[in-house]
Amino acid sequence: MNDTLAPFKTLIYEHCGLVLEGIAEARLHKALHQGAERMAVTRLSEYFQLLQRTPEEFEKLISALTVNETYFFREPDQIALFTNQLVPRLLSRQSRRPLKILSAGCSSGEEPYSLAMALDTVYGEQRRHLFQIDAGDLDRQILAKAEQGIYSPFSFRSLDAALQQRYFQPLDRSFQLIESIRNSVNFYPLNLMAELGPQGLDQYDLIFCRNVSIYFDPPTRLQLHQRFYNALNENGILLLGGSETLGNDMGVFELVEEHGHYYFIKGESYRPASSQAVSWSQSRRAPQAVEHPASVSQDSVLSPVAATPTGALNLPPLDWIRQLVQEGQTEQATRLLDRHLSEQGQPVSVGVSLLKSWLLLNSRVFAEADQLLDRVLQEDPWSVDALLLKGLNAKWQQRHEQAVEWFRKVIYVCPESWPAHYYLAEVHRLDGRDEQAIKAYQAVRRILSDDRHAPDGLLWVPLPLPRGDILFLSERHVLKLRQRLSETGEGEG
Ligand SMILES: C[S@@+](CC[C@H](N)C(=O)[O-])C[C@H]1O[C@@H](n2cnc3c(N)ncnc32)[C@H](O)[C@@H]1O
Repeated sequence: MNDTLAPFKTLIYEHCGLVLEGIAEARLHKALHQGAERMAVTRLSEYFQLLQRTPEEFEKLISALTVNETYFFREPDQIALFTNQLVPRLLSRQSRRPLKILSAGCSSGEEPYSLAMALDTVYGEQRRHLFQIDAGDLDRQILAKAEQGIYSPFSFRSLDAALQQRYFQPLDRSFQLIESIRNSVNFYPLNLMAELGPQGLDQYDLIFCRNVSIYFDPPTRLQLHQRFYNALNENGILLLGGSETLGNDMGVFELVEEHGHYYFIKGESYRPASSQAVSWSQSRRAPQAVEHPASVSQDSVLSPVAATPTGALNLPPLDWIRQLVQEGQTEQATRLLDRHLSEQGQPVSVGVSLLKSWLLLNSRVFAEADQLLDRVLQEDPWSVDALLLKGLNAKWQQRHEQAVEWFRKVIYVCPESWPAHYYLAEVHRLDGRDEQAIKAYQAVRRILSDDRHAPDGLLWVPLPLPRGDILFLSERHVLKLRQRLSETGEGEG
């Protein structure tokens, strides 16, 4: 299948930067077969030829390949930051009106319309001369939907009921956005990776490009940042999705932090005084902040949010590679980590070894992962990440006794490590040690119900354990295990 798909992958990548590997490959496969059927051709090679000379069909294929998932007031805290902090700051410091705002990759319009509603609630009618909101997307079909402004209840999952009532009118089983908000967004076709026409991307004060870069590879992301940099005014601001930002710190913009939110600024004048962020570009300029090859365990004490450049190798910062791991972009992450590991004469940093061993464990390459973990523990015997991965390594090989030992060590070093309590509980439950399992699940409950955002104690490994689900599962297991104990008459006394 790969050989047949390869020319299409290249064509699409070169057109708009979308990477169609991994799970996206199935989407490509389906879209191509639907396209071939639509055009009444039997072979994909014929369809490929056809695409070159039929722009309308090419548009349809692109539309089938884009992921348009979006909803109103997605990441509401970030929108509040925009309305309450960023916009007033921009308004007070620059006289040019209107402020130009772009939603790049706007999909069916929920994002730019959310910005328009948020501005309307604060500035009312004044917003018309204060702000210009543009919104662009690669997918022309989805833009047509955006312009209509008609939405199903699915788009309202994060929208306050009062706002919905104020700004929408029922229309059959859907809701239409009121005209004054619809008219305040200018939609236009935009391929972020193409040469742009006369309209171009120019003179924006603030660009939102959320949940778009996740479909691109690192070189495309870098190109995109350069394009945004040129498109922004001197002190412009770039906002990506909350989970994308740290992984996209590529040295083009300055990364800043405000009220726990990270975003990018061009120039220095809008840097919030309280910002805790250290961006890659900053740390590259400050030699003392660059990882020192002689102090191997240095990065083991850094928080994962502090950028850790990989100076000598000229590779992206480790946090960036960590983000790739977190996003499941394992091929790229593995490639970059292998480049680190193969560098002769350079000590391997703890972060590299931990991320690599996590990927190896997920591919069930246990022995190699174990070796790397042992190396980390030689450097830092108290590394919570390494101890926990040792435990998982044992657990996944059904060596439950060893796993219990490792998880206990984690808890000894870091008593609030709820993943360690959780995995410990799982092993006890699987082995029928119900009372011990209950105790460990209760520890998870205690930690997570006190603080839903409780840290997991890990510096490098992005465990895929959603806190809400883990809390729910732990509560359920405690109930079931208690019931089992009372039925068997055990556990009393
Ligand atoms: C998941 S949606 C994100 C929508 C919205 N920004 C949000 O965060 O809710 C991603 C959008 O990016 C668009 N997109 C993908 N590649 C693009 C490109 N090269 N240029 C412009 N838009 C693109 C897709 O068509 C899709 O509508």
